[in-house]
Amino acid sequence: MEKIALVTGAAGGLGQSVAASLAEAGWTLIVTSRDSERLRRSYGDSHLQVVADCSSVAGSQHIFEVAKAHQMLPTALAHCVGNIRLGALHRMTDADFTACLNANLISAFHTLAAFVGALRDAKCAGTAVLVSSAAARIGTPNHEAVAAAKAGVEGLVRSAAATYAGYGIRINAVAPGIMDTPASTAILGTTMGREAAARQYPLPGIGSADELAELMVWLLSEKAVRVTGQVWSMDAGFSTIRPLVR
Ligand SMILES: NC(=O)c1ccc[n+]([C@@H]2O[C@H](COP(=O)([O-])OP(=O)(O)OC[C@H]3O[C@@H](n4cnc5c(N)ncnc54)[C@H](OP(=O)(O)O)[C@@H]3O)[C@@H](O)[C@H]2O)c1
Repeated sequence: MEKIALVTGAAGGLGQSVAASLAEAGWTLIVTSRDSERLRRSYGDSHLQVVADCSSVAGSQHIFEVAKAHQMLPTALAHCVGNIRLGALHRMTDADFTACLNANLISAFHTLAAFVGALRDAKCAGTAVLVSSAAARIGTPNHEAVAAAKAGVEGLVRSAAATYAGYGIRINAVAPGIMDTPASTAILGTTMGREAAARQYPLPGIGSADELAELMVWLLSEKAVRVTGQVWSMDAGFSTIRPLVR
């Protein structure tokens, strides 16, 4: 049977890495972005390309309507939509906080809802992987908005994994530290910023989207058939270890 995967935020740094790894693993792809030109630049004429804003109910449902019109039902979802909005709580504007929630939490909620809805309608099993952040797992300054949004994603993953386990639908998340993608340009754009960021990690360095993509593709594969309701950190030890303590 053809294995069909949906990659949202597919024109972004992580989305492109996940799409490449999934294609290499033999998946047929549906890729989404809010911008058709960005999709075209990333994928040429390859894959089913859907222009949609996953942060609305209509946008996320539109993806599955287009897929259905092409006789495609994705049984795997890699939700790569999101952003990093940094700023101290007392200075974060309402507009910035709302944008952060929309990109990270609201989009995850509506896309996952549309995905499990399509699987339930077709009486199919499936699997999803969402993206949290190390910032949801340990307190770091000025990350209040993104930490709150990603903590919501982690709660969503655990609850939905419980709701749909009986239907053979597995739902997990990954929680990366900083990765070299367009979302982190403001932090990694200068040599000084890059070196400072790299030093913060117990395993020093900057993560790559390709590394995280490998983990996500594994979680979507048959090899992870007993894994659900988990949040897998890939943050070089940032959220869990203190090597300098003697
Ligand atoms: N890079 C890091 O250091 C880092 C660290 C921790 C977690 N993360 C998470 O990793 C995931 C992937 O991010 P990335 O690093 O690949 O960033 P990226 O290159 O900026 O890609 C993220 C994509 O999300 C889409 N997007 C952003 N805001 C949206 C909104 N309001 N509604 C719908 N789509 C929206 C954009 O797609 P279009 O504009 O094409 O629609 C964008 O291409 C995100 O969840 C991010 O929070 C990243």
